[in-house]
Amino acid sequence: MNPMLQYGPMGVHRLIVALCLLLGSSIAYSQHATGSDLFGGEQAFQNFCANCHGAAGNQIANVDLGRGVFRKPYSDSELTDILIKGIPGTPMPATPGMSPEQATRIVAYLRSRAVARDPGAAGDAARGRALFAGKGQCSTCHRAQGEGSRVGPDLTRIGLLRTPEQLAISLLEPDREVQPNNRWYGVTLKGGERIEGRLLNQDAYSVQLLDSTSQLRSFQRSDLRRAGFLPSPMPSVRGLLAEQEIADVVQYLTTLRGGTAAQVEPRALLHPDSQPGNWLSYSRDYANQRHSPLTQIHSRNVDKLQLQWVWQARSLEKFEATALVVNGVLYTVQAPNDVVALDATTGRIFWTYSHQPTPARTCCGRVNRGLAILGDTLFMGTVDAHLLAIDAKSGTLLWDTVVADASAQYSITMPPLVVKDRCTSAPRAATWASGVSWPRMT
Ligand code: HEC
Ligand code: HEC
Repeated sequence: MNPMLQYGPMGVHRLIVALCLLLGSSIAYSQHATGSDLFGGEQAFQNFCANCHGAAGNQIANVDLGRGVFRKPYSDSELTDILIKGIPGTPMPATPGMSPEQATRIVAYLRSRAVARDPGAAGDAARGRALFAGKGQCSTCHRAQGEGSRVGPDLTRIGLLRTPEQLAISLLEPDREVQPNNRWYGVTLKGGERIEGRLLNQDAYSVQLLDSTSQLRSFQRSDLRRAGFLPSPMPSVRGLLAEQEIADVVQYLTTLRGGTAAQVEPRALLHPDSQPGNWLSYSRDYANQRHSPLTQIHSRNVDKLQLQWVWQARSLEKFEATALVVNGVLYTVQAPNDVVALDATTGRIFWTYSHQPTPARTCCGRVNRGLAILGDTLFMGTVDAHLLAIDAKSGTLLWDTVVADASAQYSITMPPLVVKDRCTSAPRAATWASGVSWPRMT
């Protein structure tokens, strides 16, 4: 088998090798191996073993040395024995010239591959959870499952968004791979107030932040005394946590796969009048009245309305959507299937998420009628009949599920509907194809 198929692009391969060094003395095993031992181990592996086992270590059935997969749960000393004495009666040769130190080094390398594959595998999620709130001091900056501070990114869904390798890097070297959405930025208002947070967007006139209290904030540069990037405020866990503890925290983070940091609760959808300044579903209420109870604008002053801002959509296709408004943030769509989060006061963009639908033939244009929201998750149907869930704060895709077969002319142009904690979506077949257009609820 081509080793590239196993490891993907070289970048990933290099990352894994880098991790072997980074995770150095290996989280759970081989207490005495240092980074240079592992490196020596890798060279020895390539020189003496790759002939038969393959460069990626996966050429022999049921043995994947590159991923630390063996046929039996060998101890370290059993493995060193195998390397020196071979497996009698099989092609696995004895190498009597190999010193126990060399053999130990190769074993450490093989073990580190298993750990690099999943740095949390050797960890204990329950211990990791306790460390998160306690000794690790993570919850002084991070929120998970509705608890903790909002200074750093909410980690409630981090297990869905990042691999264990990426999580380990984040903990060990917070400044090394900062997600574009997590770059830390500070502004000082003319009045002296300082606000820090994640930079979402900026231009010559304004700055958009997700501030340290998790509010989407937009500032005019003319109101600022100072503005600029700051280093990540997150400290490395090196020196703070032991290696086993790091594995525990990584393991805990991988279990964080959603939760209820609810910005929009089902209750608010059921009683939209409790939040008159928001527009939380396509038709605003389940009776589909689309009538705002706000009274500031009325028939006697409507002629005084003036243009405040213009948003230039990057699409020449039709608009048939009603926007959602959640606490000053306007969420809308642009055809065919982009989601855009805008500052409702200035029209500045916080983020744009783009789904590229597979070419689908729809009856009446590649339109989209809008979004649904529940908690901090936006939902959108696509013209190729997928249903997408997108994080309302960062614009990150959370999941993408195929609802119906686009090649059978199914598409979704209607906004999804949230009922309690369920999201429903109605695909339809193009009228030109079937003569009838009939919704199918899923
Ligand atoms: C001449 C070919 C050859 C070379 C060189 C070789 N191996 Fe093997 N190795 C094999 C074969 C074949 C097996 C499977 C033996 C069996 O059927 O049990 C094996 C089995 C093993 C096993 C046991 C796997 C398991 O799950 O039971 C380990 C560990 C191993 N090799 C490591 C190494 C290392 C490390 C090196 C280099 C120092 C190496 N081998 C060099 C052919 C080779
Ligand atoms: C002083 C505040 C602070 C502390 C303490 C802190 N973090 Fe962070 N963390 C941040 C900030 C800000 C970011 C975003 C910038 C970055 O990636 O460095 C971040 C980023 C992260 C990321 C990457 C998020 C992503 O989207 O990829 C992870 C994972 C993480 N932290 C986990 C932890 C864990 C686990 C702990 C405890 C051991 C911890 N943090 C302690 C502030 C903090």
